[in-house]
Amino acid sequence: MTRSARLAGIGSFLPSCLVPNAQLAARMDTSDEWIRTRTGIRQRYFAEPGTTTSDLAAEAGARAMKSAGLAEVDAVVLATTTPDRPCPATAPVVAAKLGLAGRPAFDVQAVCTGFVYALATACGLLAMGCVDTVLVIGAETFSTILNPADRATSVIFGDGAGAMVLRSGQAAGNGAVGNGAVGPFDLGSDGTGQDLITVRAGGAEQRRSGSAPAPGDEYFSMAGREVFRQAVEHMAQSARAVLGQVGWQAGDIDWLACHQANLRILVRLADVLGIPEARVLANIAEVGNTSAASIPLAIDQAYRAGRFKAGDRLLLSAFGGGLTWGSTVLTWPDLTHP
Ligand code: COA
Repeated sequence: MTRSARLAGIGSFLPSCLVPNAQLAARMDTSDEWIRTRTGIRQRYFAEPGTTTSDLAAEAGARAMKSAGLAEVDAVVLATTTPDRPCPATAPVVAAKLGLAGRPAFDVQAVCTGFVYALATACGLLAMGCVDTVLVIGAETFSTILNPADRATSVIFGDGAGAMVLRSGQAAGNGAVGNGAVGPFDLGSDGTGQDLITVRAGGAEQRRSGSAPAPGDEYFSMAGREVFRQAVEHMAQSARAVLGQVGWQAGDIDWLACHQANLRILVRLADVLGIPEARVLANIAEVGNTSAASIPLAIDQAYRAGRFKAGDRLLLSAFGGGLTWGSTVLTWPDLTHP
C-alpha cells in the first residue's frame, strides 16, 4: 500500500461585482455578440475596490474546509498569477486569515495551469508523509492586471476563487483507485513560449534592462490565436498521457473538467478526445476565464448543482502561460458535508 491523496472537501467564492458583456461594450470597441460567439462568455465578476486575491482565496478555502468538516488543515498551497504583492507569497496571508498561522503555506505560479500544478504539489506533500491534510486554492483578481485599452484580453478574464481539501489515504498501485482518489498527473512546460502570455514589466528582466517599462507593459498580454491553437494541442496530448497512466479510455470519463479559457476550446478539446459535449463542465458563460481558479470553481459549482455521484470519473486538464500544461484524474468522493 502507498500513501495517496483523496478529495475531502470543496468550495468556491465569487466577488459581488457582476460585469455583463454590455458593460464592457459601453466602454470599449466590442460587442456582446462578439464576446459571446468568440468566447462563450456572457458575464464575469470583478473584485470590488479593496478586495484582494487573499480575500477571495480565504473565502473559498473556508468553504472547502467546511465541506471537509475540518476546522484546520496542515498546509496551504495557493495557485495564483495575481498575488497580493510580488513579495512575499500570498498563501501565508491566506493561512493567517484562516487562523492557520504557523502552518506551511506557499504560492505556485503556473498561470492558468496553476491549480493542476498546485494539486500535484499537494499530492506530493501527502505522499511523502509531510502532512495529512492540505488546502489547495486557485484564486485570482485578474481585473487588477487587465489593460483597459486591450479589448482582446479585457473581455475574457474574471475574478474568483476555488479550493479543495485533500487528505491522505491508502491506495494500491497508481493511486487512482477508490472514491476521492486524485492523480496520477501529467505536467509540462515550454519557456520558449513565455511571450505568448505575459506581463512584461515589474520583474527582474525589465528592472535590469535599465529602461522604464513601455506603456502597457505592466498589464497582462496574450497572443490569443496562437494560444488557442497550442491550448487544444497540449491539453489533448496531456489528457491522453494521464489517461494512459491510469489505464482509462475516453469512454470511461464521466466529466471533462478543464480550464475555462474559451468555450470553443472546450468544445474542440472534447471533440479531439472523443468525449461527448454533454460531459463537458462549462461555467465560462457565467464567470469568464478565472485562470488558476477556473477548474475548482467549475467543479464546485457542478457539485453544488448536484451533477456528480460518488464514483464519477473526472478528467482535469489545463493550459496556460509559461507555457505550462497539466492533467490529472479524480474519482468523485462521497462528500458528507455539502
Ligand atoms: N471585440 C471585438 N473584436 C475583437 C475583440 C473584441 N473584444 N478582440 C479581438 N477582436 C478582433 C481582433 O482585433 C481581430 O480583428 P482583425 O481581424 O480586424 O484583426 C479579430 O477580432 C480576430 O481576432 P483574433 O485574436 O484572431 O480572434 P480569435 O477568434 O482568435 O479570438 C480570443 C480571440 C482571445 C478569444 C481567442 O484567441 C482565445 O480564446 N484564445 C485562447 C485564450 C486561452 O486559451 N487562454 C489560455 C491561457 S489563459
